[in-house]
Amino acid sequence: MWFMRQAGRILPEYRAIRQRLTLIEISKRPDVAVEVTLQPLRRMPLDAAILFADIMTPLLGAGVALDIVEGVGPVIESPVRDEAAVRSLRALEPERDVPYVLETLRVLRRELDPAQALIGFAGAPFTLAAYLVEGRPSRDFVHTKSLMYRAPATWHLLMDRLAELTVSYLRAQIAAGVDAVQLFDSWVGALSPDDYARYVQPYMRRIFTSLGPAGVPMIHFGVATSTLLGAMRTDGATVIGLDWRVPLDEGWARVGHGLAVQGNLDPVALFAPPNVLEAKTADILQRAGGRPGHIFNLGHGFLPGTPLENAIRLAEFVRDESTRFRADDPALAIFA
Ligand code: CP3
Repeated sequence: MWFMRQAGRILPEYRAIRQRLTLIEISKRPDVAVEVTLQPLRRMPLDAAILFADIMTPLLGAGVALDIVEGVGPVIESPVRDEAAVRSLRALEPERDVPYVLETLRVLRRELDPAQALIGFAGAPFTLAAYLVEGRPSRDFVHTKSLMYRAPATWHLLMDRLAELTVSYLRAQIAAGVDAVQLFDSWVGALSPDDYARYVQPYMRRIFTSLGPAGVPMIHFGVATSTLLGAMRTDGATVIGLDWRVPLDEGWARVGHGLAVQGNLDPVALFAPPNVLEAKTADILQRAGGRPGHIFNLGHGFLPGTPLENAIRLAEFVRDESTRFRADDPALAIFA
């Protein structure tokens, strides 16, 4: 069990640091980034820490002028909408361009308990492209999808560059000691299965094929992907993220039980009364059925305003229930 966006927004000790430093400043200071990454593990019985950075961090390192604006998200100074702009994106050399990320990971791996996993991450090419092309968060991705349809060669060049950047960034994170990596393809659910297959899937396959030999589990996360799961299962990831729109057992059946799944509590359930929160959580565990290969998580990250006490209640409930689940099953009792 871990939670997307477990660091930050829900923790007062994070907000106190954010009074003094911006998100980008925190990620460039390994001492502070390590502290912020560890904060949620002191509050909740989590099995993993996730690197504190942003999906835009490697683009910043590669020289893209951008800011992460509070309450808005990433904003790009000059949106990338033609071939010249794509050609001006340069490759990432992680040790030179984002040394602070690698240093943060090396310190974290030393400081964490060996039983706690360290998760590295990157934005997936479609989601990165959506920010680069739109220039800011978007609902309909009109510029992104019209680039895809109107100038497919430019689109493929952009995806090719972003896939290469992602592979070198994650390779460096693996070398720095992460135990698993997550590809955040938060906005890929905006695509039809046919568009996914044509414009995105070759690049996801390339990333998973390139990183596979490193031997760390690879989590492919997206939102609103129920119609894409059949395609995602063949792309080479070890774990598929499910959001709350698909019941966990149905999603897992679509992914196939040969792969692990992660999810899938609605982040809004944390605003519900305790009995509703617990019933929804118990339902997910029931649907997972004690089968190995379920990583409990939210279907997407914690939302702003999530009450911290509910997050703590949730984590403790999942820990207690899953211990009980394993204890009930003699085959799994050794994990209890
Ligand atoms: O705890 C963690 O999950 C680790 C750190 C983390 C951040 N961003 C820090 C952050 C991770 C894994 C991300 C990934 C990320 N960033 C994604 C993929 C996950 C998702 O939610 O789909 C995306 C789409 C982004 C881009 C981004 N950065 C958005 C949309 C925002 C929200 C803007 C806002 O203020 O609501 C950000 C800012 C951001 N990244 C915050 C944090 C903790 C917000 C708080 C702050 O400004 O301090």
